[in-house]
Amino acid sequence: MKQSFLPLGAVLGDPAIDTAHGLVFEVLQKTLRLPVEQFRTSYGEVVKGMEMDFRREEELMETFQCPDARLHREQHARMLAGLHHAGSALQQGDDQQAYLALHALAEWLPFHIATQDRHLLRAVRERGPAHNGQPV
Ligand SMILES: [Fe+2]
Repeated sequence: MKQSFLPLGAVLGDPAIDTAHGLVFEVLQKTLRLPVEQFRTSYGEVVKGMEMDFRREEELMETFQCPDARLHREQHARMLAGLHHAGSALQQGDDQQAYLALHALAEWLPFHIATQDRHLLRAVRERGPAHNGQPV
């Protein structure tokens, strides 16, 4: 399991979810330490990972009719908009925004997991059958 990369408050107690989130943090932290040439390549992988993670959560929101799905989706959309904006700048040779975006993601994500993702996990556990180990 890759939970060792998770900040303390972001551990939800579900092995599949915590492992998925741990992988996100591992890639994020490694990317921030890369030399600039490798950073440029890895940045897109971080964004793709976040897109997949958010999409999986949003499918669960639909399936289990999570009460605050709209707010949760909006938070995902705002973060992705910033990541995509910085990714466009990165493609045009501006590294600064991409570094800022990943630092912002690293600060934002633990709080998001501890609040919105925790709420989603609670809804999945309360409303449906076992979520088949699918990470939230
Ligand atoms: Fe989320």
